[in-house]
Amino acid sequence: MSRYVLPVSVFGTVVGCAVLLKNHMTGGRCPSKATINGKTVVITGANTGIGKATARELAQRGGRIIMGCRDMEKCEAAAKEIRGKTLNHHVYACRLDLASLKSIREFAEKIKQEEQRVDVLINNAGVMRCPAWKTEDGFDMQFGVNHLGHFLLTNLLLDKLKESAPSRVINLASLAHLVGKIDFEDLNWEKKKFDTKRAYCQSKLANVLFTRELAKRLQGTGVTVNAVHPGIVATELGRHTGMHQSTFSSSILSPFFSMLVKSPELGAQPSVYLAVSEEMEGMTGRYYDVMTEKEPAPQALDEEAAHRLWEISSRLVGLEEEGQSAKVDPLAEG
Ligand SMILES: NC(=O)c1ccc[n+]([C@@H]2O[C@H](COP(=O)([O-])OP(=O)(O)OC[C@H]3O[C@@H](n4cnc5c(N)ncnc54)[C@H](OP(=O)(O)O)[C@@H]3O)[C@@H](O)[C@H]2O)c1
Repeated sequence: MSRYVLPVSVFGTVVGCAVLLKNHMTGGRCPSKATINGKTVVITGANTGIGKATARELAQRGGRIIMGCRDMEKCEAAAKEIRGKTLNHHVYACRLDLASLKSIREFAEKIKQEEQRVDVLINNAGVMRCPAWKTEDGFDMQFGVNHLGHFLLTNLLLDKLKESAPSRVINLASLAHLVGKIDFEDLNWEKKKFDTKRAYCQSKLANVLFTRELAKRLQGTGVTVNAVHPGIVATELGRHTGMHQSTFSSSILSPFFSMLVKSPELGAQPSVYLAVSEEMEGMTGRYYDVMTEKEPAPQALDEEAAHRLWEISSRLVGLEEEGQSAKVDPLAEG
C-alpha cells in the first residue's frame, strides 16, 4: 500500500466532513421572493457583516432602509455602496451608538419625527468577547450593547411599529445562548471576575428572553417579534478574539475556518426570511436556528426570568420612571 494512501484519505475525509458541515450550517437562501416596496426597515449595525448584507438584500427587495451605525464614515460608505449596487436610492445612514442611552434616544427620536412608518426593526448589531469594557452609562459592553441598547431602542419605537402593523421585530441572538446564564445579582460583572465568553453568552440569552417577553406584551397589536441564530458566518464579529489577533490563526487556521463558515450574504438570509416571508406572518415569540424554528435552551423558556429581566432592564435604561415600556395586556394574558 502506498504511504500516501492514509494521509490522502484522511485529508479527503476532513474536506468531505467540512463540506457536509458547511452545507448543514449554511441553510441556503431565503425561499420567499417577496418584495417590500413602500415598507421601512430599521437595521442596527449595518455597516458590515450580516447587517450590511441584510440591508443590501432588503434594499434590493424595494424597502426604504435606515441603517443605524456608530461609525458614520463606515455607515455612509456602506449606504452609498448599497444604493449603487441595488439602484435603490432610499438607503440612509443614521448615527446610532448602542453603547450610549443618549445616542439611542436621539436616534429613536429622529426616526419618530422623520419616518412615517417602521415596518421592520432588525436588532442586528453586536459585540462579542471584547475586554471588560463599559458603555457610556456604565453597563458591561456586551450586555449593554447586545441587550440593553436594543431593549431601549425597541421600546422607544413600539408606537411607530404598532401604527405600521402588521410589523416585525427581529432579534439577532446566537447558539451561544445555549450555555448562557443570567446572573441577576451581577448583570454587569461588577462583583465577580470578568469572563468575556460568559458575558457574550449571557447577552445572547437575554436576546431570547427579551423576544419571548416582548411577544407576550405585544399580543393583539399586530407586531410580531422573533429571535434568530444566523449560523456561523464569516464577519468581523471575532475581531476581539485570539483567532483574529494571532498571525498563526489568521494565516493558517483562518482559511480552513472559512471553508466551514458561510458568507455574510448567506448569513443574512435568516434575517431576510424573518423580515419578509409570507410564512412568518403572525409568527411571534419564536426562536429560529437559521430558517428552522427550534426550541431554545430551557433557561430561555423561563417565563419568570424573562419577566424579571424585563423589569430590571426597564429600570436600568430609565424607561420605568417614564412608564414607557410595553405592558402585559391582562386580557391578552388570559
Ligand atoms: N457571525 C456569526 O457567526 C454570528 C453567529 C451568531 C450570532 N451572530 C450575531 O449576528 C449579529 C451581527 O454580527 P456580525 O457577525 O455581522 O458581526 P460584525 O461583522 O462584527 O458586525 C457587528 C455590527 O455591530 C455594530 N456594533 C457594534 N457595537 C455597536 C454599537 N455600540 N453601536 C452600534 N453598532 C455597533 C458593528 O459596528 P462597527 O463596525 O462600528 O464595530 C457592526 O456594524 C450580532 O448580533 C451577532 O451576535 C453572529
